[in-house]
Amino acid sequence: MRKPFIAGNWKMNMNTDSAVSLAGGLAKELDGVDTVDVAVCPPFVYLRAVATALSSSNIALGSQNVYFEEKGAFTGEISCEMLKDVCCTYAIIGHSERRHVMGETDALINKKISAAINSGLLPIFCVGELLEERQAGTTNKVVSRQVKSGLEGICKERVQAVTVAYEPVWAIGTGLTATPDQAQEVHAMIRGLLADLYGNDVAQSMRIQYGGSAKPGNTAELMSQPDVDGLLVGGASLKVEDFAAMVKTVA
Ligand code: PGA
Repeated sequence: MRKPFIAGNWKMNMNTDSAVSLAGGLAKELDGVDTVDVAVCPPFVYLRAVATALSSSNIALGSQNVYFEEKGAFTGEISCEMLKDVCCTYAIIGHSERRHVMGETDALINKKISAAINSGLLPIFCVGELLEERQAGTTNKVVSRQVKSGLEGICKERVQAVTVAYEPVWAIGTGLTATPDQAQEVHAMIRGLLADLYGNDVAQSMRIQYGGSAKPGNTAELMSQPDVDGLLVGGASLKVEDFAAMVKTVA
């Protein structure tokens, strides 16, 4: 059985006070919830403060990005060891905003995933098609390419550190959620691909999250799908009531 995993992606929101208060509120609301893995991913600059606010909770910490080099002349970048130093367990890698706003390529994302696994961070590896790709009927082709390229060179013993997050780009921050059937179809395709690459046991053990306008009102139906193992939540993760309600629905 795959344990459900709900992660909040705070994106470029919050300040120190609001980040600490959101984390503290979640720690209180979700005290005792142990049937769901929960993580929050604040901006880099608030990781330390949020780690402190979560220190006596079950909620894990993740970053929204990472760089693959260990150290040196990479101005503005953050390494895996730095993230571990501020208590991160997870790192979101290849989010659609990084792919489409910052221009990250499949090859760069692959290096980041590999570096994260090597350092002991657990990647939340995002994939998803654009609206025009869905309309052109190329969703499976695009998502398969992203999964295969992102995991290239990563062996079966190491790949199990990865959570895949299927986030159709047209559903992110738009209020348009994929229907449970649309999500299930792509999740099943991804699991089938993981089975081809790594064998069925590995594919069955790996979690695949859905992301894209997930909110309290659609959590139960999305999570009722057999291959939807969790959610990567943007907007709705910024409010204690909403995010806590989603986790409790799943618990
Ligand atoms: P959203 O974002 O829930 O606001 O659509 C999800 C994400 O980008 O991870």
